[in-house]
Amino acid sequence: MKAVIGGTGFAEFDDLTDITGNVVKTSFGDAYLERGTFRGETMAFVPRHGHPPRQPPHRINYRANIQALSDIGADSIIAVNAVGGVDASLDVPSLVIPDQIIDYTSGREHTFFQGEIQHIDFTYPFDQALRDQLIAATGSVGNATHKGVYGCTQGPRLETAAEIERLRRDGCDIVGMTAMPEAALAREREIPYASLCVVVNQGAGFNDAPVALDEIGAALEEGMQCVREVFRSLV
Ligand code: HPA
Repeated sequence: MKAVIGGTGFAEFDDLTDITGNVVKTSFGDAYLERGTFRGETMAFVPRHGHPPRQPPHRINYRANIQALSDIGADSIIAVNAVGGVDASLDVPSLVIPDQIIDYTSGREHTFFQGEIQHIDFTYPFDQALRDQLIAATGSVGNATHKGVYGCTQGPRLETAAEIERLRRDGCDIVGMTAMPEAALAREREIPYASLCVVVNQGAGFNDAPVALDEIGAALEEGMQCVREVFRSLV
């Protein structure tokens, strides 16, 4: 079964029909999971921040969310993430399908492996076949960048201008708070995972100005409309 994890601005998958939503128990805590029909197929949807969305990025139970999807036999996950632009040439809003991650988070429950020694390969954190599907689907939607490095910060505060500058020097193109440990946990459970990011603001310090928080809502709305179109065009 295909699965989608939705984030800020995508807390509901409007195109799902016949939805049943439940809090499910996993060995790592509770998760809220919906099942519904999308284009004739059964699909799973997890609103990352809960239902209603209450959990800030650093308090999300990423393990429960991924375990719930593993328990129902999810065989692919497309994650939707709102991000800021580190590469100043990225339009707001626009879509990015990242191919790499740098993890700046700390103190999150980031692994399923407890009391056993296990290492996963994470050289390429996103599944290339899923990325290819997203790249093909964004072709008709436009304004999408097909690769990029996602810098995952701890939040919930936004970054300082110097932190964004450092991320840029590190090679990041976008910055968000939710790709990690989600992507790694999906890999631990061997579920192919890719991310569709929506750039909703320029990173801190752009044009020597504070982040335009009041403009994020409109960018989110417009960007998520594009995300819906991408899902409709996915093969
Ligand atoms: N920084 C971190 N996370 C974000 C941002 C940002 O500027 N915008 C949306 N998510």
